[in-house]
Amino acid sequence: MKIFVTGGAGYIGSHVVALLGRQGHNVLVYDNLSTGHEWAVLSGKLVRGDLGDKKLLADTMREYMPDAVMHFAASIQVEESVREPLMYYRNNVINTINLLEAVTNLDIRYFIYSSSAATYGAPDAAGPIGEDAPLEPINPYGATKAMIEKVLEGLGAARDFRYIALRYFNVAGADPQGLIGQAYREATHLITRALKVALGEYEMLSVFGTDYPTPDGTCIRDYIHVEDLAGAHLLALMYLRQTGDSGVMNCGYGHGYSVLDVVKAVKKVTGADIAVRMTDRRAGDPPSLVADSSRLKRLTGWLPLYDDLEFIIETAWKWEQKMAKR
Ligand code: UFG
Repeated sequence: MKIFVTGGAGYIGSHVVALLGRQGHNVLVYDNLSTGHEWAVLSGKLVRGDLGDKKLLADTMREYMPDAVMHFAASIQVEESVREPLMYYRNNVINTINLLEAVTNLDIRYFIYSSSAATYGAPDAAGPIGEDAPLEPINPYGATKAMIEKVLEGLGAARDFRYIALRYFNVAGADPQGLIGQAYREATHLITRALKVALGEYEMLSVFGTDYPTPDGTCIRDYIHVEDLAGAHLLALMYLRQTGDSGVMNCGYGHGYSVLDVVKAVKKVTGADIAVRMTDRRAGDPPSLVADSSRLKRLTGWLPLYDDLEFIIETAWKWEQKMAKR
């Protein structure tokens, strides 16, 4: 297939692009390189462009005429979204609508959307959460993702347009071959940040909140290896082509780890002593997010290969060490 990938130079997008290339698909990446990198695009062609540039977007898409679109380009930090809500509504909502306009103008039928567990807000139950749980986002980031899910629903009802929204839980780890990985200019995600402390790039790791209603008082997340998540995108696209059924699917492993569990695992994998400082809660953080991914498994046949926190950390650790040498 010919697949147009926005944000394909970014962390998750680049892993999907590499996998699409290995599976013989033709890829065109559209990325403004605000957080992505040219070297991360291992397959296909890269066009440097912004989703706010409607003309370039429409021209690029018309010339390429893809069979499907995968949309990764977005702002993704929860805490930043609390501080800069307009930036999030612009980048994640307005720009996605620009993209959907181009998609509908060209009658492109298949669309895979990067949604998020942040759409659920702060679920009451600590156990795995299913797709039918209410969407009550507690931060602008989650709100933008929930809004676009609604837009997709409306579009699917209005015309011959099929989509899958994948609700990612906490994506982590790096390409097991060590070719690509997370490379944001500032590391805010827990595992990356802890590894950078192990490398001495930061002095300490702040643990944001120790008074959550969880067994050790720190937040619980479902960490999924980026390569397993990449696989879910290909399966979702195949499912969409075969059945034509639009829908929403959670992507996670179904069990969570607390911040302190992660710190312990990072110490074990790296052999480094991670200096930790207990601090106040970070704005916008829900206590616990764990996926019920049975729908993804049942409908697409997804079988995760890397459901192992230490393996996730090992791949990220190899990548961080490589980056540090660069
Ligand atoms: N945390 C710390 N210290 C840090 C960094 C994070 O204690 O230095 C804690 C956070 O408070 C949170 C947990 O570690 O409880 C995970 O935080 P991350 O920043 O790694 O990830 P988030 O859960 O905030 O968000 C991530 C993605 C979102 C996605 C969400 C879904 O960034 O895009 O997972 O669960 F929506």
